[in-house]
Amino acid sequence: MTKKVGLNRRAFIKNAGFTAVAGATGTLATAASTANAQSGNPSDNYPRLANGMYDFDKVYNRAGQNCARWDSPPRSYPNGEFKFGMGVASMDFECAPCITEALMERVQHHSWGYMASTEELRDEVVKWNGDYHNNDIDSSMVTLSDGVYPGMIAAMRAFAPRGSKVLIMSPAYSGFYSMASAANIDTVDSELKLVNGRYEVDFDDLEAKMTSDVRALIVCNPQNPTGNVWREDELLRAGRLALEHGIVVLSDEIHSDVIRDGQKFTPFSALPDRDVVNNSLTFNAISKTFNLAGMKNAYYYSKSPTMLERVNKYHRAELSTLGVVANVAAYKYGRDWFDQANAYMDRTHTMIEEYVKKNMPSVGYVRNEGTYMTFLDLSKTMAAIGADEMYKSHNKRSPEHYMQDWMVYNSGVYLNPGSNYGQGGAGRMRMNIASSQAVVQDVLEAMAAAVNKV
Ligand SMILES: Cc1ncc(COP(=O)(O)O)c(C=O)c1O
Repeated sequence: MTKKVGLNRRAFIKNAGFTAVAGATGTLATAASTANAQSGNPSDNYPRLANGMYDFDKVYNRAGQNCARWDSPPRSYPNGEFKFGMGVASMDFECAPCITEALMERVQHHSWGYMASTEELRDEVVKWNGDYHNNDIDSSMVTLSDGVYPGMIAAMRAFAPRGSKVLIMSPAYSGFYSMASAANIDTVDSELKLVNGRYEVDFDDLEAKMTSDVRALIVCNPQNPTGNVWREDELLRAGRLALEHGIVVLSDEIHSDVIRDGQKFTPFSALPDRDVVNNSLTFNAISKTFNLAGMKNAYYYSKSPTMLERVNKYHRAELSTLGVVANVAAYKYGRDWFDQANAYMDRTHTMIEEYVKKNMPSVGYVRNEGTYMTFLDLSKTMAAIGADEMYKSHNKRSPEHYMQDWMVYNSGVYLNPGSNYGQGGAGRMRMNIASSQAVVQDVLEAMAAAVNKV
């Protein structure tokens, strides 16, 4: 199915500049001049494959572009051991053409002063939530932000005074721990349990952890890194427990568009219990959907005006003109691109599942329901290489950090250590799957060769 690409970082970097220049002066410029001719959607005139699809198989080299996923790891491996950046949550796809077209149009104007309004962006946020998730919010409920981080930190400051705690169902996104630290509060983990091949909430443990010093519960839906898409009954149960214990729910839904075939995403704010909903705030962005993290746009909202107002007092965002232009274009015209990207990543997940089960028998695999992450159980390899002991003598933070190095030295593949994600991350490594399937195939083969030899 897939062709071996034999990714070479040096060639990659060399070609990166070439691709960028060729793109700017060639194909994209041509597309820009004819854009908007028919439907108003600048993507319509952009070259696609003969069948009308975007080409996600194309290996798109992002190295050498100040790209966190590809340009940060080599700093830790200066002798060229690093080959594949499968860590940071961004995509290796060329972004939706409508975004580049909109940016190119805007940069024709030599004017970069303060913006008059961000109303259009707020309206598109409302529309996307309605169209894509059947979630009825209005713009008075929405506060724009320059990331999920600033909004979530403001909410923690608003609801969790110094000395209090935020409760996290873990393993969960490492950023939640940094956010709590920025808000000067502690965290407490309630570990998800692996039951019949799915991560499940341990509701007894969750309730036991809802002590009087806990003021906020973070719900991560879909859950990064485990890939859970939480069902309505699970969200309701967690939400009711939080309400009973006087704990506010902070629902991070940044991965809410990346849902696998057959799964259904339920926005927390659409739960059929008004009291539960009014006890929550939701944090979202389309930065994961369209690979726009560097454009610094996000938003939060609440159906409770009092809750929203309380958080707004602690929050201030500074959006940039280009970020707004890019996000508006993505919301307005990007849906077809994203639907295709999502279907492609769904097939990539299946490809990984089949490969790991067949060719990496010592590696544990849990089926993803959403996100473009997969959380692999490498505990057997870690035991075989003595990671539990070796990490100390190698001055590493955890056995999983030792495993991270081992994997780079033995396969070139850079993964994120499970221990970054709180309790339940031991023995696990997170892999970002949002790349061309040819790259993923090379990554799998390199990892299999490494783990199968120990
Ligand atoms: C669950 C989750 N929340 C928040 C973020 C970061 O969001 P932002 O870049 O908008 O601050 C990420 C990034 O990977 C994430 O996975």
